[in-house]
Amino acid sequence: MDKKTIDLIEAAISKRKPLRKITNALRLVNGLGDALPGLVLEQYDDRCVIHLFDKRWIAGKEALAEFVKSRLGARYLIIKERLDPQALKSEQINASVWIDQAPARTVVQENALLFGVDLNDGLNSGLFLDMRRNRKIVAGLTKGLRVLNCFAYTCSFGVYARASGASSVINVDISRKSLERGRENYGLNQLECAEDEFARADALTYMKLALKKGTRFGCVILDPPSFARHDGKIFSVKKDFPVLIDAAMNILESGGVLLAATNFSGLSHQALEEMVAAGGRERIKSIEPLGQDADFRGSGRMPESYLAALLVKTK
Ligand SMILES: C[S@@+](CC[C@H](N)C(=O)[O-])C[C@H]1O[C@@H](n2cnc3c(N)ncnc32)[C@H](O)[C@@H]1O
Repeated sequence: MDKKTIDLIEAAISKRKPLRKITNALRLVNGLGDALPGLVLEQYDDRCVIHLFDKRWIAGKEALAEFVKSRLGARYLIIKERLDPQALKSEQINASVWIDQAPARTVVQENALLFGVDLNDGLNSGLFLDMRRNRKIVAGLTKGLRVLNCFAYTCSFGVYARASGASSVINVDISRKSLERGRENYGLNQLECAEDEFARADALTYMKLALKKGTRFGCVILDPPSFARHDGKIFSVKKDFPVLIDAAMNILESGGVLLAATNFSGLSHQALEEMVAAGGRERIKSIEPLGQDADFRGSGRMPESYLAALLVKTK
């Protein structure tokens, strides 16, 4: 690696130093945001993941691995080549393990909470680092509220909400495996699970059923995938988010809050806000754009690092 690249990586690492007070899972390099287009480096305690979004990094993989080993003392490193932006499935990416002195699975801490990660598990580790700040913000609003965490994945929002005193949480996801990992995250944080805390279901169907049954929530979280297949139909966040927003608004108590978020770079903050405003009609008190922690420098300038998130408060 040339000196300029090393200096840029060092500068990026040093800019993240303050975040180490709250977590040991962070993004150390965020591509273009750190003047290193196509390179993403993440650290999970003493393990690392490199995502390569540009072929110019491929020839230098060995040097990157050496750097991660000596500079960060990594005991595990996997490099994931993600040159094709359309490749969303783990089988479509070329992943190779470069340092193998510890298992790919470990537990990280964030704001005094614990989360299991598996760095071998496809594209994602089990904890979306770009949502760290929003987990804290939303959890800070949920004390005493009934929370519906739709598209829950490994239930990190649910863990935060329960730890912050939500009166109940329901984590809804279509994936049994993700909910199982969510249950493990509850266990890591000594949170006892209520019987209905994890629901394997289609989020829209769940919300429609809740409306029918008269169940209401003080907080609904909507963080759907960009694209997904369910029941023979293709879900696209750009096309289908308005229906989800409408369903969520219908089951929010008055004064309730909605988090609406997407990683799909084809949906701008403004377009998302227009969807929310249309779905919320006269019930909306305020819409606040949410951001990311400092490790996501330059987010929004590249498709591989994009998050539009809105906090909606109702009357
Ligand atoms: C972007 S991830 C959510 C991340 C999560 N909010 C977090 O912060 O950790 C999308 C999740 O939606 C789930 N999913 C996909 N289609 C679904 C559906 N129709 N109903 C419920 N969950 C679904 C996937 O299994 C995946 O866990």
